[in-house]
Amino acid sequence: MQAARQITTVDEVPEKSTFLFTVRDTETDEEREAILVRTDGEIVGWLNYCQHYTHIKLDKGSGAPMRDGEVICANHGAYFECDTGRCTFGPCEGAYLNGLDLSVEDGVVSLADGGYEFVAAGPIESDPADLSSKSNMEF
Ligand code: FES
Repeated sequence: MQAARQITTVDEVPEKSTFLFTVRDTETDEEREAILVRTDGEIVGWLNYCQHYTHIKLDKGSGAPMRDGEVICANHGAYFECDTGRCTFGPCEGAYLNGLDLSVEDGVVSLADGGYEFVAAGPIESDPADLSSKSNMEF
């Protein structure tokens, strides 16, 4: 069971972007997307949804944009601190991303959150929203 919770290796998490993966909510059985982010040498995990419009994904499949230790929502430019998940600028300023508990051991990042199960690296396979995500950019 333990092996199924392994997400990836620390080396696979990009320096200035995000690592996208899919989890399953153990209560609702729904699949959700999540991201790993580097911050001050640590790896943190957040659900991959903006707090302005919560169906909007921060990482649309090729890594979320980042600047100065913050993840940026490309839709309306909200900034989220990597380490706290707090929105410091934008339409949802003061809101927090939903965090995931992780463990990092021997260079391997694992899910340590009782609320979620690891499904796979990458986006939700069958999410119809993925089909339109490329044209879902609003500025
Ligand atoms: S949807 Fe993210 S800032 Fe509007």
